[in-house]
Amino acid sequence: MKTIVISNRKGGSAKTTTAVNLASQLAKNASVLLLDFDTQGHASIGVGSKPSESLGVHSIFLGSTLSETFIPTIHDRLTLSPALEFFDVYEYADLRGVLKSRFKHERIAEFFDYCIIDTPPTFDALLKNSLEVADRVVIPFVPHHLGVVAVGQMVRAVYQSATMLGRDAAEVDILPVMFNPHILEHKAALEKVKTSFGKDKLFSPIGVDIKLASQFESGDPLVLNKRRSKGLKDYKNFTNELLERLK
Ligand SMILES: Nc1ncnc2c1ncn2[C@@H]1O[C@H](COP(=O)(O)OP(=O)(O)OP(=O)(O)O)[C@@H](O)[C@H]1O
Ligand SMILES: [Mg+2]
Repeated sequence: MKTIVISNRKGGSAKTTTAVNLASQLAKNASVLLLDFDTQGHASIGVGSKPSESLGVHSIFLGSTLSETFIPTIHDRLTLSPALEFFDVYEYADLRGVLKSRFKHERIAEFFDYCIIDTPPTFDALLKNSLEVADRVVIPFVPHHLGVVAVGQMVRAVYQSATMLGRDAAEVDILPVMFNPHILEHKAALEKVKTSFGKDKLFSPIGVDIKLASQFESGDPLVLNKRRSKGLKDYKNFTNELLERLK
């Protein structure tokens, strides 16, 4: 199993949109587990479900197994562990290593080809638990100055977490989102990221497509929609590029 964490401490940078579309694309040909680690529960909504008030992925911090939180989704091969809506990570002193330990004891890797984790826009125990199990971290970012700054901060967080755990850092990939090639600032931001992190770290960008937003409302994910759209094409392309890097 390959575990891919979608993360950026900056809010509204298409983490959830990326997690949902990647998980849905992968589930066409593989068995996929989606962990909705953001208590907002937007990834759960994106795959036709909703956050739970009683049992969700955060229940592992309260003594539940991970497997007992699994529920089916609109995609045959996609299993969801939904968000536990009112879980407050700051009420607990030490949550280190819980997800990693659940993965190991429940032999999660034997049941899925991919695990996709949507994370909250914070640097807390939820993000740290995710980084502990990550093979790759995908950082989506909107190509603005603060977007570029946030990529740097997130890359440092990945390396800092690895150093503290005494392990090699997960591979980091950077995904420009809501990219408009006609906006000079967007192109300049892309160049800055290429220069700072290396152009092979960057995926081809995802453009702006309102259907990527409205799919959450309609409960009709683009991947199941027969009509073609730019957003669908971009996320299909991103998934293929990621699969190449996972080889
Ligand atoms: N390529 C796109 N084109 C148009 N709208 C988009 C695109 N990507 C994301 N959006 C919209 O932008 C908003 C932010 O996206 P999303 O919720 O995925 O970000 P996020 O990083 O998960 O946010 P948060 O930090 O709150 O978890 C949402 O309303 C989403 O529907
Ligand atoms: Mg989100």
